[in-house]
Amino acid sequence: MSDTKHKIIIAVDGFSSCGKSTFAKAIAARLGYIFIDTGAMYRAVTLYALEHGAIRSGMVDEEAVVRLLAEITITFRFNPDRGASDIYVNGNLVEGKIRTIEVSNCVSRVSAIPDVRSKLVAMQQEMGRRRGVVMDGRDIGTVVFPDAELKLFMTADPAVRAQRRYDELTAKGEQVSLEEIERNVRERDKADMSRTISPLRQADDAIVLDNSHMTVAEQMAWFMEKFEERLAQ
Ligand code: DC
Repeated sequence: MSDTKHKIIIAVDGFSSCGKSTFAKAIAARLGYIFIDTGAMYRAVTLYALEHGAIRSGMVDEEAVVRLLAEITITFRFNPDRGASDIYVNGNLVEGKIRTIEVSNCVSRVSAIPDVRSKLVAMQQEMGRRRGVVMDGRDIGTVVFPDAELKLFMTADPAVRAQRRYDELTAKGEQVSLEEIERNVRERDKADMSRTISPLRQADDAIVLDNSHMTVAEQMAWFMEKFEERLAQ
């Protein structure tokens, strides 16, 4: 059997700021799989739209975003210092610019645009074609890879999630309030679940992981058990 045949697709979906990326990255490192953060792709499009006048004063001009899509090329390049891939738009490194509160406040509206989703979903399907990937997002187990062999759905208490994102942003020197972050977390939950195209929902065959009170090590032990079970099936 070839190596590709042994490798599977692991879909990690769930609410924002649940630690999906940290967890998915740790799983990928442990298994020697490629980690793909699909949220970073939606954020990269949002940043580009902000920088090119398609979002002004928080108002998203959908037609302008769709026009810009044609000129956006997204690539990932592995960064050994981070142990993960950095995201580039048209060859420019944007990794450090896509997680600001300004991008966070607009990304749900940009990710609800059908043309944005179809372009990014097609890219994600191509990236997972050879399997051996851990992909984190909102619609991986339902839309991008409905045939993924292992699907996780992550959730955690919104207050715990807001505190985590607050700690992350303040550690980077951003001036934010915990209240604003919690409002953003709750608004994004609502927007992600209620959009008409590919809303956030748990796939029927996904396993739920509520990590409100779990360390990354505990989550990893939980995951390895599920992974071994799935491979044995
Ligand atoms: O995971 P994140 O918070 O970085 O994601 C940013 C936004 O992108 C989030 O509000 C929802 C959207 N998103 C999506 O619609 N589909 C995905 N597969 C990943 C993210």
